[in-house]
Amino acid sequence: MRSVIRDYLAEALGDVESDTSGEPAGYIPELAAADPERLGAVFATVDGQVYGAGDIDTEFTIQSISKPFAYALALADRGFDPVLARIGVEPSGEAFNQISLESDTGRPLNPMINAGAITAHSLAGSGELKPAERVERVVHGLSAFAGRPLRIDEAVCASELEHAHRNLAIAHMLRSHDILTEDPRAAVDGYTRQCSVLVTARDLAMMAATLANHGVNPLSGERVIREPVVRQVLSVMLTCGMYDAAGDWATQVGIPAKSGVAGGLIGALPGQIGIATFSPRLDPHGNSVRGVSLFERFSSDMGLHVM
Ligand code: DON
Repeated sequence: MRSVIRDYLAEALGDVESDTSGEPAGYIPELAAADPERLGAVFATVDGQVYGAGDIDTEFTIQSISKPFAYALALADRGFDPVLARIGVEPSGEAFNQISLESDTGRPLNPMINAGAITAHSLAGSGELKPAERVERVVHGLSAFAGRPLRIDEAVCASELEHAHRNLAIAHMLRSHDILTEDPRAAVDGYTRQCSVLVTARDLAMMAATLANHGVNPLSGERVIREPVVRQVLSVMLTCGMYDAAGDWATQVGIPAKSGVAGGLIGALPGQIGIATFSPRLDPHGNSVRGVSLFERFSSDMGLHVM
């Protein structure tokens, strides 16, 4: 069984390898330097089986794939009402770095776009945490999802912070609406550190499998998050996880998912499997080109569409 699934994954990788369309993210200089040929895919089942092919142990930064997990931590640490009062759950139909705030309240439309994710980061941790303690809470929480201690890539973080004008502008807008109640620079600094956590495709598959396994890490057995939080997070991943490609994704692939600009992509199918792919070239939405093709294939070959 194990070798059949590995062969299937290796064949799928072979089929997308020739697609060299798209570009690695250019707006973070450290990411633009990534090897664009890296390619890997991992399946992690809810009973703890892991199957992978290609570059599954290469580290890269998690970027926006951190967003659903940080949202989960904010919901767990603060409860639903305070978080929903500050972050909506409606698809924006816009790019990840658009401002996308409700015009009357200034509430970000959802936690997957940057405006919502910066806000979610600010809500992680209970009580009054210092910015560094909050980052620690988030890295610790992401590590529990992955089942191993994760760390920050300081070079990528510094590189992004030098060019974070747009996120700073978004954070200042959030501050002006009192959605953020702290120094906008501290929130962007913490959010950028969150995005700079290093993971492998294997880690991402375990993180997705923890969501698929209703909040319990299939390998460590640790309950990382309660079921109502998992349901909330997966719902928002299905409707908003792929930004302005969310409708195409829901119809073509039909798996709650999240992409990151370093080339990672995860999908979580409740009760079944966590899937992760890694390939740095991105389409105009900021989603991995080969990753999207692989997910389309997995969904169709194995009937994974939730409908
Ligand atoms: O906020 C940013 O620009 C990045 N640190 C994360 C963006 C990202 O990964 C968007 N996803 N595809």
